[in-house]
Parts: sequence; C-alpha cells; structure tokens
Amino acid sequence: MTSLLNTKNNPAVYLEGMNYTYGRKESCNQVLFDNQLTLQPGEIVCITGPSGSGKTTLLTLMGALRSVQEGSVNVLGAELRGLKKRDQVNIRQKIGFIFQSHNLFSSLTARQNIYMALELKKHTTKTKRAKAEKILTRLGLGERMDYKPQKLSEGQRQRIAIGRALVNEPKLILADEPTASLDQDSSQIVIDLLKDIAHEKNTTVFIVSHDQRAIDAGDRVVKMVDGKITKCFSFACCACMRHEFATRTSLYRFAMVMGPDAGRHL
Ligand SMILES: Nc1ncnc2c1ncn2[C@@H]1O[C@H](COP(=O)(O)OP(=O)(O)OP(=O)(O)O)[C@@H](O)[C@H]1O
Ligand SMILES: [Mg+2]
Repeated sequence: MTSLLNTKNNPAVYLEGMNYTYGRKESCNQVLFDNQLTLQPGEIVCITGPSGSGKTTLLTLMGALRSVQEGSVNVLGAELRGLKKRDQVNIRQKIGFIFQSHNLFSSLTARQNIYMALELKKHTTKTKRAKAEKILTRLGLGERMDYKPQKLSEGQRQRIAIGRALVNEPKLILADEPTASLDQDSSQIVIDLLKDIAHEKNTTVFIVSHDQRAIDAGDRVVKMVDGKITKCFSFACCACMRHEFATRTSLYRFAMVMGPDAGRHL
C-alpha cells in the first residue's frame, strides 16, 4: 500500500497549464494550449490526433529537447521550466527517445551503434557486448549485429534505433510513431518489447501513434486536437462501460419480454 501511495505521489511526468508558441511577434504561432497530463511509473500511454495538432511538440518538451515557455513540466522529479542547458542534458540522458528518423551512425555496425548509447554508462566491455547482443536478438536482429545501416532495410534500421533507446533501461521512453516504417511482424516485436519493459522495469512509455497495435498496448489513450489534450480514456474504463451497456441491454430485453413490471422481481 505504501509503495502504491508513493507511486501515485511521484508521477513520472506531470504537466500543468502548458502552452507553447513557435516564432516571435507577428510570425508567432501558438501550437499548445493549457495542457494537463500525468503519467504514472510503469504506465503506457498512447497519444493520437490529427497531423499538425502538436503531438511531436509536446513530446520534445517532455524530453527537454525544447525549453518550456509557460506552465509546469515535471519529468522524473525535475521541473523543466527554467532548467539550465547542462541540466537539460542530464534529464535527456535518463530518457529513451525513439523517433521516426533514426539518426544511426552510418559508419558503425548495428552492434557499435548500440555501444554508443552504452558509452554513457561505465560498463565493462563484456557487459556492453552482452547487453548489445541481448537487445539486438530481442529485436530480431541477432543475425545482423555486424551489418552497417546501409546494408539493412528501413525496418531493420528503425529496430537498431529502438535498441539504442532501450538498452540503458531508461525510466521514461518517449516514442514518436515508432512503428511507422515497420511491417506487421516488426511492429509487433517493438510493441511487445515496450510492454515488457514497462511491466518488468516499471518504465513509463509515452507513444505517439495511430497504429492500432500501439493503441491496444496502452493502459490509456489521450487525444490531441488543435494543441489541446481533449480526451482521455483508459481501457479499464472502456471495459466498465461495455459491461454497463451489456447489463442495461440485457435488462431492457428482459423487460421487453416480461413486461414493464419485470424489474420489481429482480
Ligand atoms: N520547428 C517549427 N517551427 C515552427 N512551427 C513548427 C515547428 N515544428 C512544428 N511546427 C508547427 O507546430 C504545429 C504542430 O506540429 P507538430 O509537429 O507538433 O504536430 P504533430 O501532431 O506531431 O503532427 P504529425 O502527426 O504530422 O507529426 C504545426 O502547425 C507545425 O507546422
Ligand atoms: Mg509529429
């Protein structure tokens, strides 16, 4: 009970009153409006919404890749508003980022690209090797560890980038359309891995996606429309609503068959 209370009191991400504007003066364009959001440790939350609605902007603010202008953005216990550049870098190192453009080093093999992420931690060569091999195998790239990106397919390159984001077991993963360039099997591998990490390591996963598999994997789905998170529903909630609807439908059918006084005997 105590740990549950602690978890509830220490969200992985907490946003309040968050606005964001690109540009200045007459060319300024406000794209985020008074957003609130709380993500708990171990929670997988999927965000959907039309193109241009502000999902990537929100994700980059949560990841300290942009400076917060207005409102509060608390990530892994740190308030990002007003944070110095050096401290922004420290926060970024605690987050696993997965973007559509994978930015792999083309002169390095898959294994060496994973090593680059592991350089941030003080691992022995043996541990680095074991970690890189484990994650690449889990992503279905066990046979491709010593290939350079140009010898691999788009989907395989994206999976290396995903391995690089996950190998340090970050407490928060921010993923922007992680399955967009993947086929069905590869998408399923990625989604399963994100789910496993969230459950095994209590990692919070925030995914921008329209992929039904990612949406189904989420504990909760939020919707962004015109710069504002407008809808938020959990699957537990949906299950309750479905149950209530089914119960009401059954009672209605029962009343139709038995007559209007049927309910009195229930
Ligand atoms: N660097 C930028 N400079 C100025 N405006 C930007 C910049 N990046 C995004 N925008 C604008 O901000 C708005 C939100 O863009 P954003 O990329 O966050 O949307 P999105 O929901 O991620 O869209 P998509 O689903 O197409 O990726 C858009 O109107 C976009 O044109
Ligand atoms: Mg986007």
